[in-house]
Amino acid sequence: MKKAFVKSYGCQMNAYDAGRMADVLGAEGYAATDMVEEADVVILNTCHIREKAADKVYSELGRLRVLKATRRESGQDTRIVVAGCVAQAEGAEILARAPAVDVVVGPQSYHNLPALLAASHTKRVVDTAFPIEDKFDHLPARRTSAVASFLTVQEGCDKFCAFCVVPYTRGAEVSRSVAAIRAEAEALARGGTREITLIGQNVNAYHGLGQDGTQAALPALMRELATIPGLLRLRYTTSHPNDMDGDLIRAHADIPALMPFLHLPVQSGSDRVLNAMNRKHDADTYRRLIARVREARPDIALSSDFIVGFPGETDQDFADTMRLVAEIGFASAYTFKYSPRPGTPAAEREDAVAEAAKSERLAALQALLDAQRHAYNAGFVGSVVDVLVEKAGREPGQVVGKTPHLLTVQIDAPATVIGTLVPVRIVRAGTNTLFGEIAHDAAVAA
Ligand code: 5AD
Ligand code: SF4
Repeated sequence: MKKAFVKSYGCQMNAYDAGRMADVLGAEGYAATDMVEEADVVILNTCHIREKAADKVYSELGRLRVLKATRRESGQDTRIVVAGCVAQAEGAEILARAPAVDVVVGPQSYHNLPALLAASHTKRVVDTAFPIEDKFDHLPARRTSAVASFLTVQEGCDKFCAFCVVPYTRGAEVSRSVAAIRAEAEALARGGTREITLIGQNVNAYHGLGQDGTQAALPALMRELATIPGLLRLRYTTSHPNDMDGDLIRAHADIPALMPFLHLPVQSGSDRVLNAMNRKHDADTYRRLIARVREARPDIALSSDFIVGFPGETDQDFADTMRLVAEIGFASAYTFKYSPRPGTPAAEREDAVAEAAKSERLAALQALLDAQRHAYNAGFVGSVVDVLVEKAGREPGQVVGKTPHLLTVQIDAPATVIGTLVPVRIVRAGTNTLFGEIAHDAAVAA
């Protein structure tokens, strides 16, 4: 049997796509492997969001060139595929820079992989089209259902934040139909999935064709999915503040399956920087939004993304970001140094922030957010929370799962609880994980 190795970088949608590429190859008779040395097809599913992420591709391709040559010496063929957002952004340049690459395929064309692989035996091929046909109509059924699975419901972005490559690599915003999403979710649930995270670059702008022929927004989609037998939990990510409407905020109060966690990137707390980023809202709008979300769901865990050192960002601008973080209080967050991306408006600016200032600001922001995260995690010690157990832990006799607030918990419990909700008493909070034991005297709240 031929073997395929898929490595994915970047966001959750890339992880989803990597799984679907494995499905496509699986339907062609390839078995998945996690040992690159034995793979007949190697796929790198790349990320272009920041410079560092994109650079990884070329160093990895250097290693693969050696591997390919070694395998050839022993008579084995290796097809090397570059997929994902670097493929979309750099296309044929990749063939020029990396001689070992056989196929370059973008995020909207990977359903063509079998044909591209076949063609690559006579010439190197690039497919970075945004085809009219929907790739989802051409993908085979999903082959695996993890306890917690991702499901793409919306893709692409029309917002054009000044720093961001996504509108160029993923294309315009497109939503899948409720029927197609429901069918995929039902199949996942039948296979054992208990939690689905609905993903999209701009997921809260979701507006797919509804079951009744009218457009459905995200709350209607979630209400529909919440009726699927076996599906216990729903989440969605990632959102833009301007698409966080009253209905979606109310959904956090009204849909029991929707977990109390919201990732709502703000990027900066300075109105001047938000304006320069083309985010189209100010810091107080974000504050008011958060207040409304907390009114609907007081215990909601908040998460965000921040960029420090956007061109022209002053000490005062950064102080505004620190003040916003201090006021709101986040359970978790991602922080990034601004990285100029080719083709984006911000990359043209000549008022770049010095690297030293970026590093200093990043460290200060991370320290504040780390302190908030530790305090947040510590707040659960002594309480009993529902944990959806996802998999075996590192040590035998341990399993790992997630709380409603998306915290990872290690529990001393047998593997038989995998795939179920168990009440867990939290005994200790580590840096990234909580530790707990099954609370035999408690029942799950759900
Ligand atoms: N530089 C730094 N961070 C970026 N992000 C997106 N583009 C850039 C960039 N050019 C961050 C944003 C976004 C997250 C996915 O990545 O914070 O929300
Ligand atoms: Fe990038 Fe998100 Fe802005 Fe879209 S909404 S351009 S993905 S930061």
